[in-house]
Amino acid sequence: MHSHNLLLLLFFFFTVSFAELCHPNDKEVLLNIKKAFNNPYILTSWKPEEDCCTWYCVECDLKSHRIIALTIFADDELSGPIPPFVGDLPFLENLMFHKLPNLTGPIPPTIAKLHNLKYLDLSWNGLSGPIPSFLGSLSNLDILDLSFNRFTGSIPSSLANLRRLGTLHLDRNKLTGPIPDSFGNFKGKVPYLYLSHNQLSGKIPTSMGKVDFNYIDLSRNKLVGDGSLIFGSKKTTEIVDLSRNLLEFNISKVVFPRTLTWLDLNHNKIFGEIPTGVVKLELQMLNVSYNALCGRIPMGGKLQSFDVYSYFHNKCLCGKPLGSCK
Ligand SMILES: *[C@@H]1O[C@H](CO)[C@@H](O)[C@H](O)[C@H]1NC(C)=O
Ligand SMILES: *[C@@H]1O[C@H](CO)[C@@H](O)[C@H](O)[C@H]1NC(C)=O
Ligand SMILES: *[C@@H]1O[C@H](CO)[C@@H](O)[C@H](O)[C@H]1NC(C)=O
Repeated sequence: MHSHNLLLLLFFFFTVSFAELCHPNDKEVLLNIKKAFNNPYILTSWKPEEDCCTWYCVECDLKSHRIIALTIFADDELSGPIPPFVGDLPFLENLMFHKLPNLTGPIPPTIAKLHNLKYLDLSWNGLSGPIPSFLGSLSNLDILDLSFNRFTGSIPSSLANLRRLGTLHLDRNKLTGPIPDSFGNFKGKVPYLYLSHNQLSGKIPTSMGKVDFNYIDLSRNKLVGDGSLIFGSKKTTEIVDLSRNLLEFNISKVVFPRTLTWLDLNHNKIFGEIPTGVVKLELQMLNVSYNALCGRIPMGGKLQSFDVYSYFHNKCLCGKPLGSCK
């Protein structure tokens, strides 16, 4: 090889390897995040001398080369609060801090600046404090998952403003107060709604009776009053879990959507008789145990395919699979 060719090759090699794609602002922000976390092992690849578009746990947009995803998960070592600097990655679409048991403290207010966020997953951490109402202004959010943390306080009504929200996970926290009335008036899509394992109280807002949920899980709270408003013949709901609340209503006249495949009502104070319409449903799971139901379990459909544990501990329910009616 001619020596000038070799030089050219070397020149080419150096220009390519040092042509950093990563935006310097983003790089500085990421290095601040690394420092705030005290240089954890999981961020070892975040080396100042290397292009940040090649680092682990981040993703650059192919055209703009701006950071669009920061996804850190499954690490016991990472500890401390979410660094406020995350708010300085203006092109971020996907922010995930997941299964980081030592990630603690509140959701920093700087997250309000991330208007391009589509996916915010802060689940399975040790986060606490309130669910900030500014999350309702992140208008591009499709998935909001704050489950399995220690969040307290009430659910901000602003979340119903999220027009693109497809999934809302607030389950497994320590949330109190009522479900906001605004959850009967979602401004856009109706999200898959997971509010279970909290300490939510009061009645299910009447406004929610108008909403056609596909998936709604309100189980293991302290909700009182009528739960029948969730149902209705015109809806296309598939999965309903209202179990382990204090709901009290007459089930006799409830019309369940034909699409229902999963119905868990166990541990409430529901009374009346199981309506015969239930035999028409293609149920895969039914649990009405631990209520105050009476009368004969209708014969037919899937109803006799469930065992006694789907029906036991009621006031005077009878017929297959329970004992015969007197
Ligand atoms: C992370 O938390 C666990 C307890 O949940 C603790 O034993 C461990 O020392 C913590 N690790 C660090 C690096 O703080
Ligand atoms: C429940 O409603 C049915 C139908 O309206 C009625 O006949 C029944 O008496 C009610 N049951 C109770 C316990 O109030
Ligand atoms: C229904 O719920 C009761 C009470 O939690 C439980 O013991 C039973 O196993 C459940 N049955 C089914 C079929 O899930």
